[in-house]
This record gives sequence, structure tokens and C-alpha cells, in this order.
Amino acid sequence: MKIALGVSGGIAAYKSAEIVRLLQDRGIRVQVVMTRAAQEFVRPLTFAALSGEKVITDLFGSDDSQANVESAIEHIAIAQAIDALLVAPATADILAKFAQGIANDFLSTLYLATTAPVIVAPAMNVNMWNHAATQSNLEILRQRGARIVDPGSGYLACGMTGAGRLAENEAIVAAVLEALGVSQDLAGETVLVTAGPTREKIDPVRYLTNRSSGRMGYAIAEAAVRRGARVLLVSGPVSIAPPGAAELIRVESAGEMLAAVLKLLPECTAIIKTAAVADFRPRIASEQKIKRKGPATLELEPTTDILAEIAQYKKSHAANSPNANFPIVIGFAAETENVLENARKKLSAKSLDAIVVNDVSREGVGFDSDRNAVTIISHHEVIEVPETSKWEVSQRVLDQVVKLRRHRTSAVR
Ligand code: CTP
Repeated sequence: MKIALGVSGGIAAYKSAEIVRLLQDRGIRVQVVMTRAAQEFVRPLTFAALSGEKVITDLFGSDDSQANVESAIEHIAIAQAIDALLVAPATADILAKFAQGIANDFLSTLYLATTAPVIVAPAMNVNMWNHAATQSNLEILRQRGARIVDPGSGYLACGMTGAGRLAENEAIVAAVLEALGVSQDLAGETVLVTAGPTREKIDPVRYLTNRSSGRMGYAIAEAAVRRGARVLLVSGPVSIAPPGAAELIRVESAGEMLAAVLKLLPECTAIIKTAAVADFRPRIASEQKIKRKGPATLELEPTTDILAEIAQYKKSHAANSPNANFPIVIGFAAETENVLENARKKLSAKSLDAIVVNDVSREGVGFDSDRNAVTIISHHEVIEVPETSKWEVSQRVLDQVVKLRRHRTSAVR
């Protein structure tokens, strides 16, 4: 998801830097567009460094170079690529241009060229804000469907007191998320996601592992961030990039994953265990590289079942504090036969609230793929999710967290 953030020339321009960060925390890419006046308040470099994207500062360059010809048509490409246009702070001048359809710089041209939702967060002197011209321009924009994040009242940079202060960043970000249709239904949850495979050491150069790529867990982590959760991502070794706003804890072995999960348990309100944890590890990891003398036998012992430990923790706490609010726990199971029956057994054996099962005997889904087909089984329902992207599967799994939370809340009442 990508938005354009238009920064126009007001003293509040510096506050937009924080807005860039808050949006990025929600997994949204930000293309900053600055008006000439905005550049008098904040240097484009600040926004370029924060957003990781080139900042657009002008409609036309000063010569006929190819780069300038390209930049002159860039507004059309950007207008089509963005999911929303936010202007913060929006000065009286830019609001007037938008209302009248004047397109004489990049930002005002972008406004006319985009069909994406528009959000404006005005900031100006109180008299300018109250002026009939400004108010009627705002009314025009409102009627065209733009969302106006009204300024707050207080002491203004011009020395006067009244309406005109840029709204709180959180209110601006919430308006953007609403415009994007991104639900914040996991706000307040701390979701612990385990992802990827584990590596069990055989000797200094060899280990046992499995085909898990981490994609399912990383997709869930990213989706949960976007839905407003704080996300703790405990990950085995994978080669994909983690979602920026998740708190990443890297682990190697099943033992390390267990330790990390138990440490984080008191902080989290939901646990989603997508990790393909090794079931066995070499009983003894050799200190020295094992020489090629055969035949060799590897003696294995089972690893500790992390979910069983979580269930144990739950039980011991239930005895001590019966009203305690335990995390919602969702497990994953990869099965090749008797898929639903085995999953149901795991649901109760591991004291889970729900289990997401995939039939890994099917071609093209599950391990090492961007697609998956799963069945989500809870104590209340069975939901089939036919083959789709792992992103869509993530959303269905997170819907389940929301539902289970509602069940718990209504059960307490
Ligand atoms: N799991 C775990 N700790 C382990 C092994 C598995 O927490 N040591 C979790 C996985 O992260 C997953 C769920 O248990 O969420 C089911 O994993 P799976 O390997 O299907 O279950 P097992 O109990 O190992 O059963 P099986 O005998 O079918 O392998």
C-alpha cells in the first residue's frame, strides 16, 4: 500500500516527519511531495531519509534534460500508483488551489490527477482558518468527498490562540487508515508470531532443518501490524525480509524458540504459532566435525513441544488466578493424511483456541510457496479457506483472533 504525503508550507511541516514514521509502522509506503514553501521550513533531505524514497519538490526542472521530461509526467504515474493522498499540513493556499482546481505545482496537479481518496489536515493562523474563503473552500472539498481532519485549538506559532493547530498525528493517521479501508480491529493486542524453521545442530557445520520459508508467519506478522497490533516476531532462520514494524527476535533451534516464547508470554495477548519447529534434534551435538566414516547413525531425541509448555503455563496460572486473561493461542498443523481428524486431536491435546491446518500433500501450496489452502478449526466453527495468497490466509487467521476475543469478552460479561 502506498500513499502520497503532500507537505505544504506551514510551521507545522516538521510534524509530518513523525506522520511518515507512523504510516510506515503500519506497513504503508510514503511518497513525500513538498511545495516550494514547505521547503523553507523543512529540508527535503529529512523526508527522503525517513521515507526511503526520493522527495518530489517540483513540477518542472530548470532544463530540458530527459530527467526533467520524465519528472513532468511523473505526477500521472504517481497519481495512479497511490492508494490515498494526504496533505499535512494543508495551508489555506493549497486548500484554495484544490478547491478551485488550480494546478500550478506538483501537489496541486497530483490532486487533480488522482482518483484516490484525499485527506487534508489543515494548519494555519486562527483568522485564516475562520475566514469565509477558507471555510467555503473546505466545504467544496468536503462535498467532493475529501476527509478533513479538523485542526485543534490552542496556542499557535503566530502568537495567537484559537483553532488552527495541526490535528494530532494519531488522528491524521487514523483518518488515512479509514480512507484506505484498513481496519484497526487488533489495536490493543500484542500478538506473538513464531515463524520459519528451526535448525538443530549435528556438528559445527551440519544441522537438521525443514522446508519452511517463514512466508506464512511473516505475512501474519505484517497483516497484524497493519490491523493495529503490536507484533513480536520470533523467527527461525529465513531469507525473507521481516515487516519493519514488528519486533524481531531471531532464534536458531527449537530450544531457543522455546526460551524466547516463554520469556515473551507474559506480554502477549495472542500467540500464533506458524513455526515449523523441529520435532527431533540430535541427542548429542558433536563439538567437532563428524568425519566421513561409515556407516554412521544419528541418534535423535524429541524437542520440547512449545505449545504444550504454553498450555502448562496456562494451567498453572489458572490455578493461581482463575480470572486471569490468557493469550488466545492459535496453532498450525501440516498434515499429509487424516487431515481434519489429526488437526482436531491437536486442537484439544495442545489446549488451543484454534488450529489452522494445511494439507501439505497438495502440490503448489504450503511450504515454500506464496499460496496456501487451509482449514481453520476452533471450538465453535470450521472455516474452509480455499487456495489463495498467504496474505489472504493471514487475514482470515486474524479474523479468528478478533472473533475469539469477542467470544471471551462476552463470556466474561
Ligand atoms: N509445535 C511446537 N513445538 C514443537 C513442535 C510443534 O510448538 N516442538 C507447534 C507448531 O508450531 C505448530 C503445532 O505445534 O503450531 C503443530 O505442529 P506439528 O508439527 O503439526 O505437531 P506435532 O505435535 O509435532 O505433531 P506431529 O506428530 O504430527 O508432528
